[in-house]
Amino acid sequence: MIELKGVSKTYARSAVKAVDGLSLSIGDGEIFGFLGPNGAGKTTTIKMITGVLRPDSGNVSVDGIDVAADPIEAKRRIGYVTDNPELFARLKAAEYLNFVGDVYGVDTRTRQARVSEYASLFGIKDALGGSIGSFSHGMKQKLLVTASLLPDPQNWVLDEPMVGLDPKASFDLKEIMRARAAAGRTVFFSTHVMEVAERLCDRLAIVNKGRIVFMGTLAELKRGQGADGSLESLFLELVDGEAANEASPKAVV
Ligand SMILES: Nc1ncnc2c1ncn2[C@@H]1O[C@H](COP(=O)(O)OP(=O)(O)OP(=O)(O)O)[C@@H](O)[C@H]1O
Ligand SMILES: [Mg+2]
Repeated sequence: MIELKGVSKTYARSAVKAVDGLSLSIGDGEIFGFLGPNGAGKTTTIKMITGVLRPDSGNVSVDGIDVAADPIEAKRRIGYVTDNPELFARLKAAEYLNFVGDVYGVDTRTRQARVSEYASLFGIKDALGGSIGSFSHGMKQKLLVTASLLPDPQNWVLDEPMVGLDPKASFDLKEIMRARAAAGRTVFFSTHVMEVAERLCDRLAIVNKGRIVFMGTLAELKRGQGADGSLESLFLELVDGEAANEASPKAVV
């Protein structure tokens, strides 16, 4: 379960809020999609959920644990796939996985079983002896996904996870997301890919300029806008509408 209450963030030397009074609640067993144009505040929000950034105001909790008050306990419950898989180029992939296993306190047998399961699924098992610096973007992404699942986290937070993945890996990732939600875990991911959101999410939020302009199910989104077009056209309508009419957004929050 992930909860944000009135969360705001302004970066240093910036005149505008990257995230502006954002509230949302994602329950166990739910796949929640976070959509919005470039610069809308998705990554900033995700960094506040995962404790990488501190909100200026508002509150983030994970399974009822306040991220600011008890960051270690909160992070224990989160598996995080960042949007930027540039990490530890000199480490061998297997060393990185062991490092993550150590940090989360995953015992050796469980670690081996999970690495084997996901690295085999993603076809990187034979490459784990190589240094991360020699990996392609997609291989790094697969390694990050594998590492994020090592502790079998209750909450799985993924920032643009499909970027750079080949179609099979993308399919496999979606299957894992579905399986985890079916097992009662929380899955929160950002995407630009409307089709992914359309097929995968139980609920979604569309964010623009740091604010939520829609939150609900896809059916509610389509009803709210009185259109039966694609999610892509609804998305554009909401985001453009917000830009054109700042004072009274067509929000269905
Ligand atoms: N490190 C930073 N320093 C200053 N401003 C930043 C920083 N990171 C992001 N911003 C600003 O905060 C706003 C939100 O950015 P953010 O990265 O959260 O957007 P996003 O929705 O993830 O976009 P994208 O779809 O391109 O990934 C943007 O205006 C961006 O310029
Ligand atoms: Mg981003």
